[in-house]
Amino acid sequence: MSNDEIKIEHDLFKVIHDRRSIRKFLDKEVSDEVIDKILSAGIRAPFAYQSCSIVYTRDKEKMKKLRMFPTTKLYMVFFIDFNRMEKIIKQRNYKYDFDDSLLLWMGVQDVSLVVENVILSADALGLGSVLLGGAPFQVDKITEIFKVPRKTFPVVSMCLGYPDPEHKMQIRPRYPLKLTASEDKYNDLSDDEIKECMRAMDEGYITQGYYIKLGAKIPLNKGKDEIDMDKYSWSEHISRKITQGAWYEETLLNLLRKQGFKLD
Ligand SMILES: Cc1cc2nc3c(=O)[nH]c(=O)nc-3n(C[C@H](O)[C@H](O)[C@H](O)COP(=O)(O)O)c2cc1C
Repeated sequence: MSNDEIKIEHDLFKVIHDRRSIRKFLDKEVSDEVIDKILSAGIRAPFAYQSCSIVYTRDKEKMKKLRMFPTTKLYMVFFIDFNRMEKIIKQRNYKYDFDDSLLLWMGVQDVSLVVENVILSADALGLGSVLLGGAPFQVDKITEIFKVPRKTFPVVSMCLGYPDPEHKMQIRPRYPLKLTASEDKYNDLSDDEIKECMRAMDEGYITQGYYIKLGAKIPLNKGKDEIDMDKYSWSEHISRKITQGAWYEETLLNLLRKQGFKLD
């Protein structure tokens, strides 16, 4: 694709407000030039330690092994990378001595900022994306497939491609701004305000038929499920997700330790 074929949406607020997660993509390749543009914008994010590394692939076989959305054209993994930092420190003849939990905290901050830049830049170029929060629990597969060294850990991964217009996604609701941001003092929400937050999310998701289209609820561990699919809401979903025990066999801390992070 030549430079002048890349269409760019320059209105930042339009890009932000029109964005939605995309999970079905056209059979159209993402060019080197587009990838370069997106990633160059990604790494312009502010940083604490420049601790974000990115590995991307257009290889369908690799994506299949990681069970990505099947129509994904480009897949990226965003890592906290202190392998590189250790090497810099070594070049300067220092010995690594730091609280790894602090590094991790800073690392997540660094990675998150890069990720959002990538998402918005991709959207501005006509692509769509969806994040996958399960990447930490695929660490073994990811490190094997991409030859990732110790002191490097996948925070999140992302599927990208040109959105399939046949599967137009709707804009998902958010809590009301007035109940999310406050001036001068933290807004400790009242019961009624919590209900307002829940209403904004639940009515939005139910009206859009989100879980009906998804065709799945989180099953209850105990008791009879009294909620029909058309009443199954976002706050019900998130409550089931958080109260029914861990989803993964291994804890995140264990996985981090295995990747060489010292967390005592
Ligand atoms: C850290 C993170 C992890 C996510 N993981 C997943 C995922 O595993 N699968 C998925 O379909 N969407 C995932 N999402 C996308 C969210 O479901 C989506 O952003 C949210 O429902 C709001 O919808 P929107 O992005 O269309 O506004 C993730 C989003 C974030 C920020």
